[in-house]
Formats: sequence, structure tokens, C-alpha cells
Amino acid sequence: MKAIPKWSPDSWRNFPACQIPEYPDPEQLDKVEKQIAGWPALVFAGEARALKRRLGEVCEGREFLLQGGDCSESFAEHNSTNIRDYFRVMLQMAILLIYGSSCPVVKVGRVSGQFAKPRSSDTETRDGVTLPSYRGDIINAIDFEAGARLPDPERQKMAYRQSAATLNLIRAFSQGGFSTLENVHNWMLAFVADSPQGRHYEEVAERISESMAFMKAIGITMEANHQLRQTSFYTSHEALLLGYEEALTRVDSTSGDWYSTSGHMLWIGDRTRQPDHAHVEYCRGIENPIGIKCGPELDPMELVRLTEVLNADNEPGRLTLITRFGHEQIANRLPPLVRAIEDHGRKVVWSCDPMHGNTIVRNGYKTRPFENILSEVQGFFDIHKAEGTYPGGIHVEMTGQNVTECTGGARAVSEENLSDRYHTHCDPRLNAEQSVELAFLLSDLLKKTRK
Ligand code: PEP
Ligand code: CO
Repeated sequence: MKAIPKWSPDSWRNFPACQIPEYPDPEQLDKVEKQIAGWPALVFAGEARALKRRLGEVCEGREFLLQGGDCSESFAEHNSTNIRDYFRVMLQMAILLIYGSSCPVVKVGRVSGQFAKPRSSDTETRDGVTLPSYRGDIINAIDFEAGARLPDPERQKMAYRQSAATLNLIRAFSQGGFSTLENVHNWMLAFVADSPQGRHYEEVAERISESMAFMKAIGITMEANHQLRQTSFYTSHEALLLGYEEALTRVDSTSGDWYSTSGHMLWIGDRTRQPDHAHVEYCRGIENPIGIKCGPELDPMELVRLTEVLNADNEPGRLTLITRFGHEQIANRLPPLVRAIEDHGRKVVWSCDPMHGNTIVRNGYKTRPFENILSEVQGFFDIHKAEGTYPGGIHVEMTGQNVTECTGGARAVSEENLSDRYHTHCDPRLNAEQSVELAFLLSDLLKKTRK
């Protein structure tokens, strides 16, 4: 057997790396990364281990993973209202799933660190002018000006501080009164309340309140049962900007193992998952749960190899395969991957990202038709049923804001509406109503799966 080369937080630097830009001033970059390396951890090893245990439960078919948030967090949209409304929609989706399917839900945000973006093209051309692509607020600015598009290391400090502030609020929401089940009616956002999903949600909330009153009457109270008062919420982002990730990689004093402390779960993007490249090398050595985006180009044997490199011990909960083929390709692409993983006995969570394979351009805007998103989700459940495997999760780009970025849904957003409230810094997100609508569909599918 070939010896596995030694890993260290910076061993990725010896491998080819896609999608990491060249900084004009490498010395300044080095200075910033050293500074961040001295800053406090954002998340802690024990929390990452707790998430891995929960994902182990998902792997065994006993829980379901709900992972969602912005395509890209931005400095401009960082405010408490957005964080609150986002968190609230995640809670709504989770409660609908739990209530409808009686299956515990693991909540993981694309939040508090989701800043760096892989791009299909290195440059962007407008009216004959060509500039480097925007790569997320942690790297450069979205404004179409030469200076704005230069990678600036100072942005990493800003991203760290924004992540800390966002996480602080989320921790308070999860543990304070906001998440108590007594608040289930108040989670409804005003603009969702008068929609068809809003009324449907109110009915579910009413039934939950009745059950709570019943439990209280027989002595199961809020005070004595922290599950009714608190919730667990984990963070995740794409492990793209490896210098930043390295700076936040720390040894856990209790186990002696290396952990990423920038987020609980990290994933490897579809453009950076080459088994012999830097992103896989970095993720191989940290103990956090890891996701791998699986797009249409992924060869089944390469996926098996990736699972061996990234999860040598075949530990359940370590790896989540996030498949994103598009509604037209899932039927051809998913079964060969599922069979290869099953044939090799690899333990994985299967999660469906119905967003990234369904992007089209309409009226000059990137959008995703809601019916195509639903169709990929339906295909995901059907295929896993046929293969005898467990459809363990969903991975969506969504927001609590009332945006018009994806077309369709019960209160149909049309192609003409796209320009009304199109705020995303990168890919189109589900708005609050569309997210709740998706959760209703998922809860039906999950209920049938678990029967
Ligand atoms: C993303 O999740 O925003 C993304 C870029 O996904 P993928 O790597 O699957 O294209
Ligand atoms: Co995206």
C-alpha cells in the first residue's frame, strides 16, 4: 500500500489550485493571513463533531439534512433584518419537514463565511470592456471597475468580522427565546402570511400549538425541556479561499486533531474537486464534516476515489455528496454515482442541490424556474427509491427576503418580474414563499420515503 503523504494546514500549497486568484501584493496577503491566524476561532471542534454525529444519523436514514442560504453573502446586505428573516425561513422549513414527516432535521446554514465564489470564466466583458470576474466579497468587489476587481487581502478581515457578527446573532436566536416552539406563529413573515403557503403554514402552526398545550397539560413543559426552547443550527461554506481557511485551521486541544474553525461544515465545489489538487488536499486533513459537489461531469470511479481520499476510515457523517445535475440530467447522471458508491460500500449522505444545474438566462438575468427545481427534487427522491438508497438532504440557495430571482412558485414570479427585486450578488435564490413551498413538497416526499 502506498504511504499517505503527510498533511499539514499548508500542505495544499504544494498542489495545483483552481479558482484561487493571484493577489497583486503577496506580502500584504501573507501579513493579513498571519494576523487572522491569531484571531479567535469562529466555531469549535466539539460543535463540528456534534454535527458529524448528526450527519451520521442522516447517513443511516434516521434524520434529514436541510442546508441553505445565500449563494454568496455580501458586505452590502449585512444587516440584522436579513439575518433574522433568513433564520426564520430556515426554522419554518425545518418545522414543516419535521411535522410532516416525523423525521428530525439537521439545520445547516450557507452562512457566516459563505463569501468566496468559483467562476466559470476568469473575466467578464461589458460593452467591449473586459475585467477580471467578481469572485465574492472576501476577494474583490462587484462594481465593474478595474480597481474594484483587484483581489484585496483586507477583505478577508472584513469577511471574518462579518462572519463573527452573523454567527453571534444566530447563536442568540438558536438558544434564546426566538426558536422556542411557542413562537411558531411569529416565525411567519408578513409577506408570506397572506399567501397560499402562509395559510397552509398557519394551519400547521395551529396544530403544533395544540400539541404543545396538550404536552403542557400532562407536565411536559418548556422550562424542563430545552428541546422545546432551543434549536441547534450549524454553519457551512465552500472551502475555496484556502489561505483564509488555513489561517483558521487549529488543533483541537481535547483530541489533538486539526479542525477548520471558520465553519462547522465545509464543502468542495464542483470546479475544485480534482482528487490530486489543493482543495481536496486541504479538506483531507481536517476532521470537520465535508461536502462534495457532484456535477454532470463527475466520473463515478473518480467519486469513489474522492471518498477514499477524504474519508479513509469510511466514517458515517464525514461526507455529504451534494448532487447538482439539473432536472434534465439527473435521471442519467445520479444512478451511476449511487451504484458506484454502493458497490464500494462507501458511507455517504446523499443531498440534492436542485439549484446549480438549473440556471438559465432570461431578460439578461440569471434565473432558475421553480418547476425545474421541484422536478430535480422529485427525480432525486424517485431515483433513491429505485436504487434502495436514502435521499438524505436538500441544499438550496434561499433568502428570507421577498426577492424576484427565481421564476415561478404559487405566487408566480414571471420573467418580466425578475428586475423588480433582483438583489443577489451571484446566483438566483428562492424567496421566502418559494422556500416554504419547497418545504411542503419535501415534507410529503420525505413522509412517503419513510413509510
Ligand atoms: C455554489 O454552491 O454556489 C456553487 C458555486 O456550486 P457548484 O460548485 O456546485 O457549482
Ligand atoms: Co451558487
